[in-house]
Amino acid sequence: MAESMQGLKRTHRCAELSVANTGETVTIMGWVQKNRNKGGLVFVDVRDRSGIIQAVFEEGKTDAELIEKAARLRAEFVVAIVGRVEKRSGAVNQNLATGEIEIIPEQLRILSESETPPFPIEENSKTKEEVRLKYRYLDLRRPDLQRNMMMRSQVATLTRQFLAEEGFLEIETPVLIGSTPEGARDYLVPSRIHQGHFYALPQSPQLFKQLLMCSGYDRYFQIARCFRDEDLRADRQPEFTQIDMELSFVDVDDVIDVNERLLAKIFKEVLGVEVQLPIPRMTWREAMDRYGSDKPDIRFGMELCDVTEVVKDCGFAVFKGAIENGGSVRGINAKGQGSMPRKKIDKLVSFAKDYGAKGLAYIAVQEDGTAKSSFAKFMTEEETAALIQAMDGENGDLLLFAADQNKVVWDVLGALRLELARQMELLDKNDYRFLWVTEFPLLEWSEEQNRYTAMHHPFTMPMEEDLELIDSEPGKVRAKAYDIVLNGNEIGGGSVRIFNPEIQNKMFEVLGFTPEQAKEQFGFLLTAFKYGVPPHAGLAYGLDRLVMLMAKEDSIRDVIAFPKVKDASDLMTEAPTPVDQKQLDELGLKIIE
Ligand code: AMO
Ligand code: AMP
Repeated sequence: MAESMQGLKRTHRCAELSVANTGETVTIMGWVQKNRNKGGLVFVDVRDRSGIIQAVFEEGKTDAELIEKAARLRAEFVVAIVGRVEKRSGAVNQNLATGEIEIIPEQLRILSESETPPFPIEENSKTKEEVRLKYRYLDLRRPDLQRNMMMRSQVATLTRQFLAEEGFLEIETPVLIGSTPEGARDYLVPSRIHQGHFYALPQSPQLFKQLLMCSGYDRYFQIARCFRDEDLRADRQPEFTQIDMELSFVDVDDVIDVNERLLAKIFKEVLGVEVQLPIPRMTWREAMDRYGSDKPDIRFGMELCDVTEVVKDCGFAVFKGAIENGGSVRGINAKGQGSMPRKKIDKLVSFAKDYGAKGLAYIAVQEDGTAKSSFAKFMTEEETAALIQAMDGENGDLLLFAADQNKVVWDVLGALRLELARQMELLDKNDYRFLWVTEFPLLEWSEEQNRYTAMHHPFTMPMEEDLELIDSEPGKVRAKAYDIVLNGNEIGGGSVRIFNPEIQNKMFEVLGFTPEQAKEQFGFLLTAFKYGVPPHAGLAYGLDRLVMLMAKEDSIRDVIAFPKVKDASDLMTEAPTPVDQKQLDELGLKIIE
């Protein structure tokens, strides 16, 4: 039977108590972690978000009636205990922050009872994630998730503090907005009043933050929910949170400066980690050439090596053909992996094929200096030796090569490099390596749409020195865009924006918009820009990704209170759900089976 807490007031969270409180009478409230009944002696561990404390119900010290009541407690009952803090009579528990003390109860109230939970509430749960997500409110009681949520809250608080000190204003932007087809797929919300019309949920506050700059707010930020109907992965959710900001009268370096100091503050205060400033910068092209990725993990080497020049005249048709078709041949050197069994190498080959490779050529340099190779028969001994030398190949190394168009070669070797690092256990989650990737291409060719699309978004400023290429070689134009990368994850990105109407119109033209289409979709922004627009730039972090890395988790689901699963559904509420016919009628919607 549930009792009332009337007359009681909690004095401490469980783990706020320490030997300093010895002799005090305190009131704690929380969940029963476990109780052990040793016949007349009952140990009860009580848990709240701060941690655990032990209460000891003992003959001679506590009423027999209370001891009996304590013996009836079960896991996850909610209790209030009033008692005296004492140094432990038994052994000190080194694993517990409160391991030196215990509470000798004077009162015990059962505030609510609990059925046996579907899984134990404990750290490092072995329970399947689907089950935990179905009962997420119980999962969220577990100490690891509670730590993650507390860390997330701390990151948000520090961000607000820091940005406020730097003169940023926190301004909210709408969640029901018009749909803009550029970017990912929108989530749509049907309008009841304007039947057949739809709102979209924002993929980011991009247009509104630029308008706020037009309105003179100078420095804006928002911790904003964003919605994107994309295929989900471990680092992607259909709704996620950005730390979003925009600044007026600034260029790339100003945005980078304020953000480096923000990151340094967060890492110092939350993790005690010193971020060395300035954070290194690398152009997109260098990142692709060296790491095969626009978000390189620089915790380890194994860099790509361009051997096109070395093999361009060799006898291996695969290499020669790729080069003749305008591609390249590049390799990576997996140090000390030369004795990798054939089966494991075959797995790497099929891994490479998953990333679009037609094959993966290899040379395994043996300890005795001989080479096992998948293509040596097409090469002279001298050619093979020259290739090994170009790769800095030593006895015991495994050299892997991809030949194709640059994009394929980068993708394949970039992914392979990470896969090998995982296998070779080169990735240390305590090592935080930040990197700015700059000078992204402005445009990206879309085979699907048979036109250029904006790599970042249509409002990103081209680099002044590349403007003359925009008609002749648009693919070569670089942008004033930058990403902040942490251990191979894109944790944020942004750009300097176009504020010059001629450049903006040119951009729309290159993207294949007619002036009418541009006006229809972005008319309000283009009009706003006619009334005095300041130069401006900004950036947005994926807060979930940032906290995931700080918490050393592998999935952003572990830092989101109520996340969705791969098919974008919520296992707890079962959203999305069908709706009543009445609701559909009001909206003028008909479901086609
Ligand atoms: P962008 O699209 O690069 O830029 O998004 C910024 C950051 O948001 C995170 N992110 C995601 N996190 C979780 N789930 C997702 N589905 C997801 N998609 C993106 C990433 C990414 O770096 N308006 C621009 C920013 C700007 O130019 O100021 C924008 O949204 O960490
Ligand atoms: P093959 O002559 O097709 O048996 O290929 C010989 C070797 O070259 C095999 O190890 C293939 O995996 C590899 N290979 C095939 N195509 C490519 C490619 N585009 N890039 C790198 N290696 C390749």
